[in-house]
Amino acid sequence: KFKAIVLDEVDSTNSEAERLIANGENTPFVVISRLQTIGRGRLGRAWHSPQNGNLYASFGFRPQISPTQMSLFTLWMGINICECINSICRVNCQVKWPNDLHIEGKKVAGILTEARMEADQVLSAVLGLGLNVNSDGSDWPEELKQIATSLRQSSGQSFDINKLVSAITGRIAIAYKQLADGSHRAALKERWPRYDTLAGKSIRLIQGDSRISGVASGIDNSGALIIEKEDGSRFLARAGEVTIEK
Ligand code: BTN
Repeated sequence: KFKAIVLDEVDSTNSEAERLIANGENTPFVVISRLQTIGRGRLGRAWHSPQNGNLYASFGFRPQISPTQMSLFTLWMGINICECINSICRVNCQVKWPNDLHIEGKKVAGILTEARMEADQVLSAVLGLGLNVNSDGSDWPEELKQIATSLRQSSGQSFDINKLVSAITGRIAIAYKQLADGSHRAALKERWPRYDTLAGKSIRLIQGDSRISGVASGIDNSGALIIEKEDGSRFLARAGEVTIEK
């Protein structure tokens, strides 16, 4: 069972979850806040987090997994969150490797997983979810309007944040059990193609200073993105950012 901690305001639910874990809070739990003052995105970016009916939540775990399994952890949680959103909101949410959720090519959510590791063991993991729910996008900068969406914009409906959080939490609880008993591996392999928004697309991977172009061709058993390059060779991407070539 997940304990839920509900806040009006916090710097970042991920930071709060990390503090709770450091202070010995039992896991799993979920921290939700109506707004964040220092919401964090991937790659050191900020995650704009006003109080406008969007969802900011972080799930805290002490998973019995090794550091190499962390990317599978995020992908597995990602498809489960998609499935939950799709069934409630009647949208077609997919995962853009490694951890964005997209609806019809536009980003509806971002996932930020942060883990504390020691030797070959993950001590704790925090999965942060920023989901655009009821925002109509009118307060977004122009460049964001082109690439982002909300559940309301994609479905034409508004949603109760609390109901959404409890459904997603229930789903994550089930997914976490499957992770513990190892059944997520086969399930991810089987279900990934349905949620893979990059499959078969020409993409470019940006990894620091290097650029790799090719066709996205699913994931391997460790969760790395398979890129088929023009010269016929395969590149396995374990990190980086992907853009779809038009
Ligand atoms: C990304 O796409 O860059 C990931 C964004 C993750 C944002 C969420 S909002 C809740 C949690 N707390 C944070 O500070 N970040 C994550």
